[in-house]
Amino acid sequence: VQPRHDLVIRHATVVSDGVAATADIAVANGRIANVGTLTGEAAATEVDASDLVAIPGVVEMHAHLREPGLTHKEDVATGTRAAACGGVTTVCDMPNTLPPVATERAFREKAEAIGGSCWVDVGLWAGGTKPDELRGMRRAGAIGVKVYMVSGPGFEPLYTGDIPTLESVLAVAKETHWLVAAHVGDDNLAAAERQGLIAAGRNDARAFLALQHGDASLTGLRRYLDTARRVDVPVHVAHLSIFGVEALETVRRARAAGATVTTEACIPALGSRDLDRLGIYALASAMEDRDVEIWWRAIADGEIDAIATDHAPHTRAEKAPGERDIWAAPPGHPALQTTLPLAYDAVLTGRWSIESLVDAMASRPARLLGLHSKGRIAVGADADIALLDPNGSWTVDQAELESKVGWSPFDGRTLRGRVHSTYLRGRLVARAGEIVAEHPTGYVLARRD
Ligand code: DOR
Ligand code: ZN
Repeated sequence: VQPRHDLVIRHATVVSDGVAATADIAVANGRIANVGTLTGEAAATEVDASDLVAIPGVVEMHAHLREPGLTHKEDVATGTRAAACGGVTTVCDMPNTLPPVATERAFREKAEAIGGSCWVDVGLWAGGTKPDELRGMRRAGAIGVKVYMVSGPGFEPLYTGDIPTLESVLAVAKETHWLVAAHVGDDNLAAAERQGLIAAGRNDARAFLALQHGDASLTGLRRYLDTARRVDVPVHVAHLSIFGVEALETVRRARAAGATVTTEACIPALGSRDLDRLGIYALASAMEDRDVEIWWRAIADGEIDAIATDHAPHTRAEKAPGERDIWAAPPGHPALQTTLPLAYDAVLTGRWSIESLVDAMASRPARLLGLHSKGRIAVGADADIALLDPNGSWTVDQAELESKVGWSPFDGRTLRGRVHSTYLRGRLVARAGEIVAEHPTGYVLARRD
């Protein structure tokens, strides 16, 4: 007898579209063929998921895979292996690689070069510096356009500091129905604020936070939202949570005044003690404990559209100068492999619901990115599935993570629950924190809508 399906996952608690219910999932040709109580369906592979929770694979909007040009700290293979082990099946890679992705040619070359290295699916962001290049990158399949209103370590070449250029980028995004995301800020104001902090003798992780939460970021945010209003286009704010609670208030006010703005937060999992203990290794996502509570509330309420890992690995050697001079430390830390585990631990400890997790980590990002076959466990969708074990637990060991850099600010943490296994288009890629597939089978996704 020919098996009808390639894979049937049985008796899972399936979470999708705001509902959690026991069901079986049948997969054929990489897509979900059926969901429900499937009695007659035979399959080549049967998985008993009686004690497991099946969620759509995480769709990561904001990661830095560092290829090409910065592969001493990550590459597409290592970054997507980390993703697979962490239940992430789509990773959208930021354009601050070398050469920067600011032209159609650089975009096409990057897409071509990474094609065979993806252990999960990868989408590519375009950089918004040259308005004339944008339509070409849109046609070539870029999932969105990223604007850096600040220059900083590693993204100077993508700096868009002037409003006319920002306006042109937003106009193209509007015309082509493209997602635009910004790293908000104002370089001149930031330089002055930094000088003030230095003059006051500040040289600690909290000084870095003060700058990130300061007037330069908030002014940049307001300017971005005002410009979007003028152009009349919906916009997205990258890692809003690194800019502090006042930035959240700014977005609230803008929304109340009619702005169409979506936001990301990094999982608020590094608090006051981590700042003290880890310093530069906790930047940029760390925040004081009182802010952790505020961001969790905004996330649990669904006010934040997407959880982003902002996976931004740097080597210890690159971080090291920051020990003496905080301003010399490149911000960022690896997070692709740990974000879903941290988010799921927060479900099991009652901070938010599994339905909200799926919404913020898979469904809404997929919609924003125009990836309509992702983010749901439903007939016709890609069979990208993470199975979670609510009864398991996981102690993060930085030596065992897939990222090249070999460190994690979450090292040593014991989390409730664990990522049991990850399926990409019906194929088992990772189990129990290890890659089990033999080859990378991820695609470079092209936005076609
Ligand atoms: O923390 C960050 N790291 N923020 C950015 O915007 C860039 C990123 C990186 O590339 O390291
Ligand atoms: Zn980033």
